Amino acid sequence: MLTNGKDFRILERTAEEIELVFQCRGIEIEANLPEIKAIIGREEILQRRSGSLNSVIISEIISEPGLLVFPETPAIDRLPIPSLDATSEPITNQQLIAPIVEPKLEPISQGEPSMKTIAIYHNKGGVGKTTTVVNLAAALSKQGKKVLIIDLDSQANTTFAAGLVKFQDEDEDDIKDKNVLHVLTFEELFSIKEVARSTDFCDPVVNVVPSHIDLMSKEVELTPLGYSQFILNQKLKEVETDYDVVIIDTPPSLNLYASIALISADYLIIPSDLKPFANQGLNNVKGLIKKANTSRKIVNKPPLEVLGVLATKISTNSKFRTSTLPRRVQLIEDKYGFEVMESTIFEREDLAKCAELTEIIDDIEIPAPRSVLDFKPESDAAQEFKTLALEVWRKIK
Ligand SMILES: Nc1ncnc2c1ncn2[C@@H]1O[C@H](COP(=O)(O)OP(=O)(O)OP(=O)(O)O)[C@@H](O)[C@H]1O
Ligand SMILES: [Mg+2]
Repeated sequence: MLTNGKDFRILERTAEEIELVFQCRGIEIEANLPEIKAIIGREEILQRRSGSLNSVIISEIISEPGLLVFPETPAIDRLPIPSLDATSEPITNQQLIAPIVEPKLEPISQGEPSMKTIAIYHNKGGVGKTTTVVNLAAALSKQGKKVLIIDLDSQANTTFAAGLVKFQDEDEDDIKDKNVLHVLTFEELFSIKEVARSTDFCDPVVNVVPSHIDLMSKEVELTPLGYSQFILNQKLKEVETDYDVVIIDTPPSLNLYASIALISADYLIIPSDLKPFANQGLNNVKGLIKKANTSRKIVNKPPLEVLGVLATKISTNSKFRTSTLPRRVQLIEDKYGFEVMESTIFEREDLAKCAELTEIIDDIEIPAPRSVLDFKPESDAAQEFKTLALEVWRKIK
């Protein structure tokens, strides 16, 4: 059973799949108690026990808004059916709650889908991935493109930068119950459409599938489920007609979520400050691209197309620009075999400032970040992201 307090659903697992067997609004639960009881009442279930033994109804009434049954929840203890028959194997919590059906690995269609998905990834931290994601999204949105951001980093910096973290403490956390982890965990439930939120960091609006710190602890559970790496790719197909561009933010690591991004995307941009540590990390990026390409073959997806290394946080010092920068760019191309994109994002105070904006509501300071294009449309930083958006669009369309 899933509920966010507004909606109440009972799902039934049969041998092959999970089916929705009952649904009503939270305020209608009382009126529907007889019907709910007929499905999940203890007496009724005991009476039915001689019936279909392969079917398990997953249910629980949750009175507090925002609670969700999740893999670590000991749901089996609360199931109204203790054991289905004496000889059957005990059903594990993982079997009940995690995706049960093998993925339908459909080949991609013949014609090119119009929606393009771009992963922004480097395993080196702090190089400007998140800054690139939100401001590139804003720049494309201002060009009239319908844009979706997917935050795959457990730090949730993009979720914050998009203005979705308005709450003060964890009791008010309204992201916990519906975020990218749910998209990645449940094959049949939590579509992108259902989880994506509209934001106010940019005009026109950009939708965001938010991340959550929970992503970190769940990685160990998801990793053994090999097919979990394909769920996002599968679900993106359902929104192909809703967006022109999807931009995925990634963690500064070589973990499962980074792999999922590289499997799900069509293109990759690698932001880098072009400094030695970031350069060394490029070999790891290359390795992960190779692994992702192997996985992509399984779902008939062509190899990931690298749009290039994007020079970010580059010093505006004129000597650096004319002398050091060209040498660093050359090194990336010669030594690491990656092209460097034509656009450059220089070190600009406005980029840090616009992500830290706040507003006062009822005497409380609330984060109110904006894209740099909304914060200072005439700034150099805004101009650089407009230029980047044009380069990206030209290369992906
Ligand atoms: N071009 C820039 N000029 C000035 N400051 C920048 C620039 N790009 C990013 N920053 C600042 O650098 C810090 C790191 O940037 P950002 O969060 O975008 O990096 P990241 O690669 O996403 O980091 P992580 O690997 O931790 O996810 C932030 O404080 C951000 O405001
Ligand atoms: Mg980041």
